[in-house]
Amino acid sequence: MSTLLVSHLAKRFDSFEALRDINLTLQTGEFVALVGASGCGKSTLLRIIGGLETRSSGALEIDGTPIAAPGRDRAMVFQDYSLYPWLSVVENVRFCRTLKSFAKDQSQAAIGAAVRRANLLIDLMGLSRVRDARPDQLSGGMRQRVAIARALMAQPDFLLMDEPFGALDTQTREVMHDLILHVKEIERSAILFVTHDVEEAVYLADRVVVLAPNPGHIDSVWDISLPPRTQDLKLAPEFLHYKREITQRIRATSGMVSDRATLEALAGD
Ligand SMILES: Nc1ncnc2c1ncn2[C@@H]1O[C@H](COP(=O)(O)OP(=O)(O)OP(=O)(O)O)[C@@H](O)[C@H]1O
Ligand SMILES: [Mg+2]
Repeated sequence: MSTLLVSHLAKRFDSFEALRDINLTLQTGEFVALVGASGCGKSTLLRIIGGLETRSSGALEIDGTPIAAPGRDRAMVFQDYSLYPWLSVVENVRFCRTLKSFAKDQSQAAIGAAVRRANLLIDLMGLSRVRDARPDQLSGGMRQRVAIARALMAQPDFLLMDEPFGALDTQTREVMHDLILHVKEIERSAILFVTHDVEEAVYLADRVVVLAPNPGHIDSVWDISLPPRTQDLKLAPEFLHYKREITQRIRATSGMVSDRATLEALAGD
């Protein structure tokens, strides 16, 4: 059981205040979705937690230990797949810090364990058939499954995902949603998932955190109490209730409310 704790975290880029007083906990087994208007600081917060970006103040710790750099307890998945184009699927999954650290002692046992895990993850992600293909021979959904398999190689306690399905079509996204819920059950990683898609957030998460901009801060936190997810649930009144309420919060805080006068001026040009 691991706990990630973000407390009173703030971030400035020179004079621009990107995040103010962010407080968040994430525990093993939890799925938390981070939603909010474009530019409210979702990616910045995720990158800080991943150790890819510094914070200006506040605390960030895992099980009481401060963190300030990337570590194998956290893995990230981005929207753009970030695979090595010249490597095959199986090589992409194996090629990670983990394999090197697994194999630091160069023992056959360590290397064997890493190779076995890579194969298991390739199976879990339904990629066996394309294990020798290169990324340019794969669909977007397949590429993202490779990226997730690679992120899981290190058996991270925390999986940090930044709009991982943002570039996929609706049907592929639905398949990926059920897959990631399955992964969560099997791997027991905690997942922090950035999305601008409220339906995706409500479907996947146990808790939805709404960030609001200027400066980025937590507007509201929603505990999602819904039965086990099936695609039909998306039409159920209780699902639609969460979707509507959260969407309204994002609209109310986005500061990008379509201003009728501006729209009319544009139309008149
Ligand atoms: N390296 C940087 N230097 C200066 N400003 C930055 C930097 N990175 C992000 N910002 C600013 O911080 C704010 C938050 O950016 P961030 O990318 O975290 O937003 P976001 O919520 O992920 O948006 P989107 O939904 O569009 O991905 C933005 O105003 C952005 O311009
Ligand atoms: Mg972003």
